[in-house]
Amino acid sequence: MTPVILLLSGSLRAGSSNEAVLRTAYAVAPDAQVDAVLYDGLAGLPHFNPDDDTDPLPTAVAGLRAAIERAAGILICTPEYAGTLPGSFKNLLDWTVGGTEICDKPVAWINAAAPGRGGGADATLRTVLGYTGAAIVEPACRKIPVERGMLGPDGLLADADVRRRLGEVLGLLAASGGGEVGRAQDGR
Ligand SMILES: Cc1cc2nc3c(=O)[nH]c(=O)nc-3n(C[C@H](O)[C@H](O)[C@H](O)COP(=O)(O)O)c2cc1C
Repeated sequence: MTPVILLLSGSLRAGSSNEAVLRTAYAVAPDAQVDAVLYDGLAGLPHFNPDDDTDPLPTAVAGLRAAIERAAGILICTPEYAGTLPGSFKNLLDWTVGGTEICDKPVAWINAAAPGRGGGADATLRTVLGYTGAAIVEPACRKIPVERGMLGPDGLLADADVRRRLGEVLGLLAASGGGEVGRAQDGR
């Protein structure tokens, strides 16, 4: 069966560079022999409230957890806001903590910030994913800085080397069994 990789963008912005990275990953997925699924429910998630983290879950949260459950791995691409993750994306990750779906799931992220920037997002992802129990696939975590001129008329990254690297990341995630690769040191 073709492995499914769930693509999670941390940006709600129309014309997001982080989403462009993931849309490009989606476009190269067939060459990497994976089925990519671009999650589009970020804006519809309720604010995390432990009182609501119980059966029956809010519909949007149940959908998120089901998407994670179905995936062989997860690829994240998120901007940094004020030195950390956008609140909406941290909210998404908070909804994963109470479930078991993300435990030992291979997860990697692409940092699309300009060179020397975005370190706060990296650090926060590492900490928060540690608490979720996800298995960080270190060799699949990459820095791919995206500048405006890199996007083609289709809104995708045209550069062949970037596309090759994204395919490689998808392949690494699909090949990771979960739980064994670079498990985060911090957290549960
Ligand atoms: C409210 C806000 C806070 C930001 N804070 C940071 C920051 O702390 N560090 C940084 O490198 N960039 C910061 N940025 C820049 C964004 O990370 C950058 O514009 C990113 O490309 C946006 O991603 P997107 O194109 O996917 O929406 C901030 C942008 C906004 C709107």
